[in-house]
Amino acid sequence: MTAGRGIRRIVKATARTGATAIVAAILLDAVVLACSNEAPEAVGTDTHFPMVYGDRPTVAELSALGRQMFFDPRLSASGRQSCSSCHDPAHAYGPPDRRVVQPGGAAMDRYGFRNAPSLTYLHSPIAFTEHFYEAEVSGGKDDEGPTGGRTWDGRVNNGHDQALMPLLDPNEMANTSREEVVSRLARTDYVDAFRKAVSAPGEDVMADPDDAVTWMTVALETFEQSNAEFHPFTSKYDAYLRDEIELSTAEQRGLTAFNDMKKGNCASCHPGSHKSPQNHYPIFTDFGHVALAVPRNRDLPANRDPDFHDLGVCGPLRTDLSDRLEYCGLFRTPSLRNVALRQSFFHNGSLHALRDVVDFYATRDLTPQKWYGRGASRKYDDLPERYWKNVNSDVPFKPKADGRPRLTARDIDDIVAFLGTLTDGYVTPAARTARK
Ligand code: HEC
Ligand code: HEC
Repeated sequence: MTAGRGIRRIVKATARTGATAIVAAILLDAVVLACSNEAPEAVGTDTHFPMVYGDRPTVAELSALGRQMFFDPRLSASGRQSCSSCHDPAHAYGPPDRRVVQPGGAAMDRYGFRNAPSLTYLHSPIAFTEHFYEAEVSGGKDDEGPTGGRTWDGRVNNGHDQALMPLLDPNEMANTSREEVVSRLARTDYVDAFRKAVSAPGEDVMADPDDAVTWMTVALETFEQSNAEFHPFTSKYDAYLRDEIELSTAEQRGLTAFNDMKKGNCASCHPGSHKSPQNHYPIFTDFGHVALAVPRNRDLPANRDPDFHDLGVCGPLRTDLSDRLEYCGLFRTPSLRNVALRQSFFHNGSLHALRDVVDFYATRDLTPQKWYGRGASRKYDDLPERYWKNVNSDVPFKPKADGRPRLTARDIDDIVAFLGTLTDGYVTPAARTARK
């Protein structure tokens, strides 16, 4: 991945903007920041949205309302589920436990089939996940293909449209209509603050469910952009980038193997892992959609049907690209920040240990029985054979010329150690001493 591609993406995404002034403002911030490389804390803290009534609502108002909604189970049909049930702040806004999918629905007895992503660094002011597009790039085959968007298949382009999905999903918060969402909001103790913040002069936003829901989702989206909570850049690796500390020997070796195009080659899809003045806030994804042929998760209720396959970009949840067979099996590359806080990995939550994930990259094609089961009649057991040609087989999947894996057992341990440095909340020894 070249730096050029990142900038081209930002420009492209900006060119496609126009959805709302808010999104434009966010993108503008991102572009300005990408150029100036200022500290991300400078962004968005006191911006006023130009589209609305005088100086209201402020980012602070929207963010505070969004936070209340995010943690409020009263907005779900069951009364027991909030956004934070699946996006827990103690786990970088990812799932709270090892369960492959969190239950949902009015009686909390329904299951989807995807692993809840972490919401940290999704709206990072430097790079951002907005706007799915199909890259046609001259730089080489690796840089082509679908990119960006929200969710594992990129089918949503912004945080407010996204926020409506769980509110209405029968497997999640299970409201049956926008009116129902609004009637639940009407019974909260912050509805008056909401009214005051977002109603047009002389009007009551709650009288128009469409407007009210739009503002709810914009509030959730705004909350998801709070830098302190969602993009603090306070990991050990950030301290290392700022020259405040050294990495341990194992972490440093892991970083080298992560970058090495003949070893992990991880940075080709999860870029950002080198020191340079332009690289202060890397988020470890290029947002490319790629097929890794991860193992089938037999614990998913949907997978009891042997004919069911989640094919990512070509469906079934995404429906606009179902005729693009070359996109079957592709899922969006996630950020690796805070990945050590997760207990289930990949879009289907099939692996539960970070070491297994790294080992999978090294041995997928050398010892497929380890990943797909000894008795498995075919190797990529979660992808129909006609789509196997979509599967990425470059380094690290591609073994060395002598047939050995790209990563030794020690390389794998080292990479896991390095990934552990991406967890936010690290306190440098100097800061620790100063606190005492
Ligand atoms: C029952 C669990 C569950 C609940 C409740 C839930 N989510 Fe999610 N969330 C998921 C899953 C699963 C995905 C991935 C969906 C996909 O790929 O199709 C997701 C995806 C997302 C994404 C996109 C992440 C990315 O990487 O692109 C955002 C943003 C998000 N959720 C925000 C919310 C908000 C806001 C709420 C509350 C209104 C919420 N979620 C409630 C499970 C949940
Ligand atoms: C060709 C692009 C590519 C390369 C190279 C690559 N990854 Fe990934 N990575 C992905 C994609 C795509 C996913 C999501 C796949 C899925 O869920 O189906 C992923 C998922 C992951 C996850 C799971 C994250 C989560 O939230 O579930 C980890 C951890 C990870 N990669 C680490 C690595 C490491 C370490 C390397 C190098 C050894 C590496 N990746 C190399 C594209 C890549």
